[in-house]
Amino acid sequence: MNTIAIAIDGPAGAGKSTISRKVAETLGYIYVDTGALYRAIGLGLVAAGIDTDNTEAVEELLKTTKVNIVYIDNEQRVMLNGKDVSEKIRTPQVSMMASKCSALPVVRTFLLELQRKLAREHNVVMDGRDIATVVLPDAKIKIFLTADANARAARRYDELILKDPNIKFEDVLSDLQQRDYNDSHRAIAPLKPAEDSIMVDTTDNTLQQSIELITNIVKQKL
Ligand code: DC
Repeated sequence: MNTIAIAIDGPAGAGKSTISRKVAETLGYIYVDTGALYRAIGLGLVAAGIDTDNTEAVEELLKTTKVNIVYIDNEQRVMLNGKDVSEKIRTPQVSMMASKCSALPVVRTFLLELQRKLAREHNVVMDGRDIATVVLPDAKIKIFLTADANARAARRYDELILKDPNIKFEDVLSDLQQRDYNDSHRAIAPLKPAEDSIMVDTTDNTLQQSIELITNIVKQKL
């Protein structure tokens, strides 16, 4: 069977995951959040006390690491060595480690085939940083979502404050800027649009407006 892929890339906080999930739901495709895979590796590294400058130790750890995705009630759950870590990966510390480890070729290679296999077996809406450029260059529709850093940090802050009342906006903003820098300046598969990506800026949109906008673009192009 020939499957259809929709690639949605962009920086943290641009609205990728909520928008992609909704588009997938509307079309009856599965939603694949590839950031969760890098976060699972990041969590593994944090738990093992390994930093990313020790590439040998990272490589050793990957030999005994198993990451996969399962769907429970249509929701993506990320498994690290057989344990569901879907909640544990959503901390600022794991976000930063995910960004750092995602610059390592060994980590990107480790996760590439899993992502492509999902797209071979299912119709997917896949979100990430390099989906249109590297993972699925033949995706039928490619969208690059952006928004200015302050707007993205404000959205992220609203999510994080629910879990940690002491979180500071300035810290959320500077973490996000650091991740933007890491993700777009790494040597392999940096965050960038493909030549044929459709650029969408969500700065002044409510989430609902962005969902409608992207859903319309996708319906038109399919
Ligand atoms: O989408 P996210 O914020 O959950 O992603 C966490 C980190 O993973 C992000 O800072 C960079 C990395 N990542 C990547 O390098 N390539 C992807 N396709 C998805 C995420």
